Amino acid sequence: MKFFADTSDLDAIKDLADCGMLDGVTTNPSIIAKSGKEFIPLIQEICKICDGPVSAEVASTDFATMMKEGEKLAGIAENIAVKVPLTEAGLKVCKNLSDNGTMVNVTLCFSPLQALLAAKAGATFISPFVGRLDDIGQTGMDLIAEILTIYDNYPEFYTEVLVASVRHPQHIRESALMGADVVTCPPAVIKKLYKHPLTDNGLAAFVEDWKKTGQSIL
Ligand code: E4P
Repeated sequence: MKFFADTSDLDAIKDLADCGMLDGVTTNPSIIAKSGKEFIPLIQEICKICDGPVSAEVASTDFATMMKEGEKLAGIAENIAVKVPLTEAGLKVCKNLSDNGTMVNVTLCFSPLQALLAAKAGATFISPFVGRLDDIGQTGMDLIAEILTIYDNYPEFYTEVLVASVRHPQHIRESALMGADVVTCPPAVIKKLYKHPLTDNGLAAFVEDWKKTGQSIL
């Protein structure tokens, strides 16, 4: 399963890359606004750190302007995945960009039928938002299970299921058990995966016992 970093924080992206935990990066307009930085130069910087797909989202909602924005974003680097919303116009942009060989990440997916449309439009990635469904009292991971089943039924679909709006390790665990292709996570959530109290306790005991031997490996 691939790990994408759901952030534009360059230090956090570098940190994950150094640990071998970075397969791609996703951004959205809210993440860019939070960074306080210029969009295009920031995406250029991210593409220098990350060889994998870097999602950069269009800002408009009409077909013609989204196409122009998508083509500009695609020109930033070869590993750009243009992110478009799951609307009729967004999927038309998806179809056009995909036909021209550009990776497209279709975002704001909240239903399995929307995911079906995205696959038919040639999306490279579909981004179902599990956390936001949980927030309204639904079970976000049920959506992932349904999309995976539908995509498995049709081998001609190559769209990867990119689990988005991940809030905690349980989302990642369930995604891995279901066989989702990608999870995009805030770096803080990935950091939590390292932690286990038995690891901490066990290591503390090993360190103490090693001291008792009076030895040094180096
Ligand atoms: C990533 O592609 C999505 O934009 C992101 O995961 C949304 O996360 P949020 O629901 O926590 O804003």
